[in-house]
Amino acid sequence: MSLTASPESAVPAWLVDRLRAAGGAVPFRTYMDWALHDPQHGAYGAGRLQVGPAGDFATSPSLGPDFAALLAPQLAQWLAQQPPDAPLALVETGPGEGSLALQLATALAERWPELAARTTLLLVEPNAGMAARQRRLLEACPLPCRWLSFAELQAQPVRGVMLAHEVLDALAVERIVWDGALWRQQQVALHEGAEARPSLRLEPGAPLPPPALAPLEPLGLLQPGPQRTPGFTTELHPALAPWLAEAAAGLAAGQLLVIDYAHEAWRYYAPQRRNGTLMAYRQQRATDDPLLEPGHWDLTAHLCLESLQSAAEAAGWTLLGQRRQGEALLALGLAQRLHGLQQGSGAELPQLLSRREALLRLVDPITLGDFRWVALARGEGAGGQAPAPLPLFLQDPPIG
Ligand SMILES: C[S@@+](CC[C@H](N)C(=O)[O-])C[C@H]1O[C@@H](n2cnc3c(N)ncnc32)[C@H](O)[C@@H]1O
Repeated sequence: MSLTASPESAVPAWLVDRLRAAGGAVPFRTYMDWALHDPQHGAYGAGRLQVGPAGDFATSPSLGPDFAALLAPQLAQWLAQQPPDAPLALVETGPGEGSLALQLATALAERWPELAARTTLLLVEPNAGMAARQRRLLEACPLPCRWLSFAELQAQPVRGVMLAHEVLDALAVERIVWDGALWRQQQVALHEGAEARPSLRLEPGAPLPPPALAPLEPLGLLQPGPQRTPGFTTELHPALAPWLAEAAAGLAAGQLLVIDYAHEAWRYYAPQRRNGTLMAYRQQRATDDPLLEPGHWDLTAHLCLESLQSAAEAAGWTLLGQRRQGEALLALGLAQRLHGLQQGSGAELPQLLSRREALLRLVDPITLGDFRWVALARGEGAGGQAPAPLPLFLQDPPIG
């Protein structure tokens, strides 16, 4: 059974070679990893994707400076919980264009100079093409900054705060297909004929063996019943656990804030979500066909909150709490900031109106406002004998 075919877009030669070498088909996860992170051909690996309203897709920080300005007090609250005089780190994983890192470092230097004086900005970016652009932007960074791998961070774990904004959705997912009786691993297969040029197809592969079925149980995917019809396709997140373990080994004490698209398992795996959450983005266009122009589109899947939490706990993190972005930003003073923008006039009006528009987009309940902020902690940051105060983003909004 072939579920999707993309005959209209030519399969690049590098992918034809790889698929032939693999015997004609690979698990979807392998394909996604190549299409995103291959250093020569991947959309991030080659530094091809541009983040921002004028690029391939917009993210919250790419809409303007207000997102970072609202987030900064949360990071400052956590940094201030570290022992006085301890050297601190602000670690951003997957910094994209580097604009959030720059805005946060600037906010820290201006508003919390005593914390900034002890803080180094560390950037974990596995894709050389993206890191090259970040280096150019961060020449203006007011804090000392450097790029390093998780392995280098683990050699000298730091204290402070780690941020993963729209990073975990770029980790390659496993796709599985229900055939009416069995769960099968989805694969990407190369089809070649004497007449036609090569094409790619998504096909159900071998049934999942019993050990691979165990993680499906807590997600509600093994319950008997007629709910899921044949062809129902969804995603699993096997790359989360190793990523969270790597991150944990790099942070001696402090907090990790994950901000991303996410659903609870009951919503994620609901029978009516027949094609999972996987989407592809390029030049502000979106499609659910992941086989279009491999290596040129961003491929992204939502996180499952329960899978994230269990992988995090297994890796030694403690969950501090989670909230939708809309509520998190209101708790951090978005309403007051919006009100403040209404006081301006004259020449600054166009700029104020565009900031107002950006702030409203950040809390739009069906897009960015529905993102989840998930706070995890390690070491003393996880609370011990003297529990740390509730993170600002989980508190009630300020009065007034
Ligand atoms: C969707 S972009 C997000 C960029 C930025 N954080 C933002 O929100 O504007 C994903 C970023 O994560 C990086 N990335 C991909 N896989 C990663 C991994 N395993 N660890 C850290 N970063 C990764 C990509 O190269 C890219 O910089």
